[in-house]
Amino acid sequence: MRIGVLTGGGDCPGLNAVIRAVVRKAIDHYGDAVIGFRDGWRGVLEDYFEELTIESTRGILPRGGTILGSSRTNPFKRDDGVQRVRDTFASHNLEGLIAIGGEDTLGVANRLCQDGVNVIGVPKTIDNDLGATDVTFGFDTALQIASEAIDRLHTTAESHNRILVVEVMGRNAGWIALHSGIAGGADVILIPEIPFDIDEVCRLIRRRHSRGRYFSIVVAAEGATPKEGSAMTLETAEVDEFGHPRLGGIGQRLEREIESRTGFETRATVLGHVQRGGTPTAFDRVLATRLGLAAIDAAHERQWGMMTALHATEIKLVALTDAVAEERRVPVEEYERYGVLFG
Ligand code: F6P
Repeated sequence: MRIGVLTGGGDCPGLNAVIRAVVRKAIDHYGDAVIGFRDGWRGVLEDYFEELTIESTRGILPRGGTILGSSRTNPFKRDDGVQRVRDTFASHNLEGLIAIGGEDTLGVANRLCQDGVNVIGVPKTIDNDLGATDVTFGFDTALQIASEAIDRLHTTAESHNRILVVEVMGRNAGWIALHSGIAGGADVILIPEIPFDIDEVCRLIRRRHSRGRYFSIVVAAEGATPKEGSAMTLETAEVDEFGHPRLGGIGQRLEREIESRTGFETRATVLGHVQRGGTPTAFDRVLATRLGLAAIDAAHERQWGMMTALHATEIKLVALTDAVAEERRVPVEEYERYGVLFG
């Protein structure tokens, strides 16, 4: 079989582990040829590729990022996009393609499948917001990085009796904020799923002070919004080809509001792309490897239109349509369960 591979959307640790697993099993077990397309769907549209071999994928397991590069290119934004995808498939005599991506990349994969193009999906994203899988690889690493940052901020917050606001990524889902906040013992956690009341935030901080704790940690998801407001976007924000604006700025806004309302010295830290960089955790390496091995098996079973997914401890195949049907966001009851730990 001749099979393509691409990585699309925001990168995350573990992408190389999937590529390595796919290439190893494709070549050594099935005797396939593997074509790696550069920079996500852009590589397929522009026929920008490299042949992947066991040699070219050696040593990449612990490396963050993706050796194939990534982009947020949307073939459906070009009039001849689908035809160009078909032309590239034909010129390489490809039987199918493994697309490693999040909601957007896999949304394209799903639409292409409906147009008769053979694609199998592998779920990735630090945001953990894809449906039909219990977790995406990349999330565990981002969580580890954010939790470690919160631990570090705790000590300096305590030394200076300050409020430290930590802005984390996650787009419209609060998984990174909630889990890193719980792991790091945050006093306030703000997630996009539940618009926050700034008076309540300040009440929790004041209550800590009245109990003799003169510092606090506030973890805010980049998509968190005040009850009366809408999600903050960066001033320079343009929407990408999937219509997403760049989120950010809530940390700074909270810094100003909390300091002016409580009188307590406040600082904001934006973790940003640090959360996406560097080596994957062991959990993400293993999950990515398992998903990659299952994807090449699925290609040989001609399971086009499916995505490999983690269900409890098993890797299963699920329909791409189900995976991209809606974002997986934090349920309100899940957030409320932790309420007793705040303030
Ligand atoms: O989807 C992953 C993610 O890191 C989001 O958490 C964040 O909103 C976005 O990508 C940032 O995108 P970019 O790297 O294009 O600035």
